[in-house]
Amino acid sequence: AGVKGTFSERTFIAVKPDGVHRGLVGKVIQRFEERGYKLVGLKQVVPSRDMTEEHYADLKKKPFFKGLVDYMSQGPVVAMVWEGKDVIRQGRAMIGATNPLESAPGTIRGQYCISVGRNIIHGSDSFESAEKEIGLWFGKAGELVDWTQSGAEWV
Ligand code: TYD
Repeated sequence: AGVKGTFSERTFIAVKPDGVHRGLVGKVIQRFEERGYKLVGLKQVVPSRDMTEEHYADLKKKPFFKGLVDYMSQGPVVAMVWEGKDVIRQGRAMIGATNPLESAPGTIRGQYCISVGRNIIHGSDSFESAEKEIGLWFGKAGELVDWTQSGAEWV
């Protein structure tokens, strides 16, 4: 996931099926863009069950796992990689708590949703998950774009 703690740190962000259906893709992109982060990967996919299970492998034993995989693999998912200073931790802060009822107003979940099972967005929770998730969703060569963000010197 780029280099931890530098301007090239990267995180995996995904608008989940409920977020896509509700027309919230633009709002999510806008928040990350306006904050100063750089979009280096973007695609819309319907992830396979295998892919979804791999993405959420840590939660395999949870009672909500099957429902979570059913919901995610129905798609579409808008998958993204964002780059910039401290983007993993800042991305989580911008998204808010897992349960939207605990998410601060003004966070993405705190502004747009009320159900933990339909919380519209995913963001990597650590450098290790970011590496794993970027590899899983954007594993093919050439899927990520390295470019220079003019104006970055101002943020
Ligand atoms: P988790 O990785 O704990 O949260 P986050 O998405 O904030 O990193 O859980 C993954 C998803 O599983 C979560 O976004 C929504 C779903 N989920 C439930 O449906 N019920 C629950 O009780 C929890 C904890 C999560």
